[in-house]
Amino acid sequence: MTPDLSVTLGPLRLRNPVLTASGTFGYGLEFLPFLRLEDLGGIVVKGLSPRPRVGNPPERIVETPAGMLNAIGLQNVGVDAFIEEKLPELRKHDTIVFANVFGATEAEYVDVCRKLDDAHGVGAVELNVSCPNTEAGGMIFGNDPVALARVTRACRKATRLPLVVKLSPNVTDIRETARAAEGEGADAVSLVNTFVGMAIDVERRRPVLANVSGGLSGPAIRPLAVWMTWQVARTVKVPVIGMGGIVEARDALEFLIAGATAVQVGTASFIHPDSAVRVARGLEDHLRERGIPTIREIVGSLETGGRPA
Ligand SMILES: Cc1cc2nc3c(=O)[nH]c(=O)nc-3n(C[C@H](O)[C@H](O)[C@H](O)COP(=O)(O)O)c2cc1C
Repeated sequence: MTPDLSVTLGPLRLRNPVLTASGTFGYGLEFLPFLRLEDLGGIVVKGLSPRPRVGNPPERIVETPAGMLNAIGLQNVGVDAFIEEKLPELRKHDTIVFANVFGATEAEYVDVCRKLDDAHGVGAVELNVSCPNTEAGGMIFGNDPVALARVTRACRKATRLPLVVKLSPNVTDIRETARAAEGEGADAVSLVNTFVGMAIDVERRRPVLANVSGGLSGPAIRPLAVWMTWQVARTVKVPVIGMGGIVEARDALEFLIAGATAVQVGTASFIHPDSAVRVARGLEDHLRERGIPTIREIVGSLETGGRPA
């Protein structure tokens, strides 16, 4: 028996529920020596802004217990170069390309969404709302349900592409921002982005990262991410894409059982560049070994013995 790994994410049908996470998989093309993009449910490319960005100065990455802190500073080629140089190559592969989008203002988000809407080969847009809003004194879009609703509404108008809003875990109650995204027409929500943290060089008594703080990712955050995924999956009706510290299939299963329809693999790709494909294969093995015909039987199958959280 070959198990059916396909899942539906709003208007999209994925051949399996495993995507790569933004910022950990370049523009996909860098990974062609290591895997077939056709073996993934889809790929999420590095966050795109209206103009190219060089990002922060080094140090930009530091290893931490069971994870890493990064302050790359959203380095990217810009949306125009992505469309002109990367997309034609990506179109040669049968995979769904999610374009991750960010901006410093609402108008910048809209600008990038409009350009992607006209581009051939983009399957969906994922909004990274973990960016400081320069018009609102540096407040992070995604930390405030009102600001998140505004930017989601504006982007919803700017593109016909399926819209995923990627939620920040750096909030008191992630269900509030999930509801705001759903209320403004998001086709799905993805979570979690990185947790803000810092590391200190005790000899120099300085922050290790030039940016002082960074985003924590990797297995260290997995239990937090699974918990938030479960909370959000019980709150919204749109599909949830779960991520945070997924290294192998068992980790992905935690998110799926908690209610995620799909998952993303991020930091693990820094260790094995084909981690996401390994996770997809492991899910297939899991189903086959247990005689489970479809992955959809797993999604949201958590038993809590009647105990509410
Ligand atoms: C080096 C690095 C760069 C990232 N860049 C982005 C980005 O551009 N846009 C975004 O939405 N998330 C970005 N993220 C967050 C990841 O997509 C993901 O949400 C997070 O790392 C948690 O998953 P993981 O523990 O599997 O890595 C980045 C993460 C890392 C480690």
